[in-house]
Amino acid sequence: MDMTLTTSEPVLTIKEPSSVTEKTVGSVHVDNPRMQAKNVDVYYDDKHAIQDVTIDIGANEVIAFIGPSGCGKSTFLRCLNRMNDTIDICRVEGSITIDGKDIYDPSVDVVPLRARVGMVFQKPNPFPKSIYDNVAYGPRIHGLVESKAELDEVVEQSLTRAGLWGEVKDRLDQPGTGLSGGQQQRLCIARAIAVSPEVILMDEPCSALDPIATARIEELIHELSDQFTIVIVTHSMQQAARVSSRTAYFHLGKLIEVGPTKQIFTSPQHELTQDYITGRFG
Ligand SMILES: Nc1ncnc2c1ncn2[C@@H]1O[C@H](COP(=O)(O)OP(=O)(O)O)[C@@H](O)[C@H]1O
Ligand SMILES: [Mg+2]
Repeated sequence: MDMTLTTSEPVLTIKEPSSVTEKTVGSVHVDNPRMQAKNVDVYYDDKHAIQDVTIDIGANEVIAFIGPSGCGKSTFLRCLNRMNDTIDICRVEGSITIDGKDIYDPSVDVVPLRARVGMVFQKPNPFPKSIYDNVAYGPRIHGLVESKAELDEVVEQSLTRAGLWGEVKDRLDQPGTGLSGGQQQRLCIARAIAVSPEVILMDEPCSALDPIATARIEELIHELSDQFTIVIVTHSMQQAARVSSRTAYFHLGKLIEVGPTKQIFTSPQHELTQDYITGRFG
């Protein structure tokens, strides 16, 4: 079956993967996994949005999820910190582990899980609080600091790592929402890293930003990868090529191909990946 998307752009025809049982092309496993998803299926009521996805997320790698709109990138990303739990009709099956532990085990508390696997959204969403309190929020609620001095230090370190300290150090008491879009997104990154996550999930973090703010975030992703594992969803192939070391190509809910970013962009193996990379969809 062919599905035709009608948009303001030229009409694109998206091919179905030829077989339901077709295996992902490329190495889904890595030597040093931080997270492992095995045979993951996601349903919204009876809509099968993610179909049998198996993939490792390597420690300290930047991995990009790419693919046509609606292919399930955000859905799969949200599985990695149980953000789909907040959607009533959503059901996740299969197994997802972090450092070998099942994150869907009933004994797992999602609040600390979401600190370990933090998230940055498409639209910067600072809390309606001061710059300081935005960053201090997580360390406070998770009880990570014992004194004001310690909290001050975490706030400064997090803002410094997010490349924002110099721009805000003299106005920490002002609202986070008063910053520019790019600064707000760096504030959200500072807020995520303030609780020392292991993994940061980013869902199209630059799509609301101008090219200069985007370049700053991309630089930051590169810098943060020494300490964190980063999974970034992007609709920009150029961005995926610039920031990631591994790329996963999704298509109609299936993980079609995964491999080193350079190889995915220069010699994709699967026809569907080739079509997407070259801008030929059908
Ligand atoms: N909250 C939801 N309720 C019902 N269907 C959803 C919901 N979120 C996403 N979907 C559906 O799941 C599929 C994958 O969507 P999504 O993960 O947002 O794709 P992408 O991020 O790749 O654009 C789409 O068909 C979309 O319509
Ligand atoms: Mg999305």
